[in-house]
Amino acid sequence: MGGENKPELIVNGKRLDGRMPDELRPIRIMTNVIKNADGSAYIEWGDNKIICGVYGPKEALPKHTGNPERAVVKCRYQMAPFSSLEDHGRTGPNRRAHEISKVTKEVFENAILLEQFPGNAIEIYIEVLQSDGGTRAAGITCAAVALATSGIPMRDVPFAVSVGKVGNTLILDMNKIEDNYSDADVPICISPRTGEILLLQMDGNITREEFSTIVAMIKKAGEKIGKIQRDALKAPYEAISERYKR
Ligand code: CDP
Repeated sequence: MGGENKPELIVNGKRLDGRMPDELRPIRIMTNVIKNADGSAYIEWGDNKIICGVYGPKEALPKHTGNPERAVVKCRYQMAPFSSLEDHGRTGPNRRAHEISKVTKEVFENAILLEQFPGNAIEIYIEVLQSDGGTRAAGITCAAVALATSGIPMRDVPFAVSVGKVGNTLILDMNKIEDNYSDADVPICISPRTGEILLLQMDGNITREEFSTIVAMIKKAGEKIGKIQRDALKAPYEAISERYKR
């Protein structure tokens, strides 16, 4: 946040990459990209490239990690050493990767019907191949699709996106440079059917009024993101039905 030599992030109402304040970056999702996973998806969200593999439900091992009443969710988010110019080459997860793994796990604990799989574990692996701001949101959006392809029952297919603040302007879906110099960053994950918030983090300060606007912006963006998620889930079936038409 902030810092010297701060670039002008909004010029004549437009952002550095030409977007309007409430405009998403282009998003593309593909499913079934990992042969040996039970569910998988790949997302390109702006310059972020993220792959997600889902495994399970399968017996939680060692047994003491399981819960006799419901499935447990294990989640690992990590950045590839080549995913950005920053140093990711050191072995082992860092504090930030731990944090993102934890909040992502909590999102899916509240979305998956865990009680249907007592004693089982569901594993979610999110690998960031290229990063440009907003990877936790893109990772969650991608993992939701990967879980849906695995057939693991969920209440809903969540999506996530962040809103930032530059001066008095709220901007949707910040890229890395915006993230570096913005005055606030609020990533939110929503369950679109109920509007329930499954993740809410905040870096910087915002007012109550701004918070209401942020939630409204995110819900509106969710209509577009949800359609991209659904289209990705439908694509393999549509390809099959096209083949049968011939
Ligand atoms: O990715 P997200 O915005 O969810 O998390 P962040 O901690 O706000 O990081 C913003 C961006 O900084 C990331 O998307 C990466 O592009 C970059 N970053 C990085 O390359 N290496 C780190 N250890 C932390 C952040």
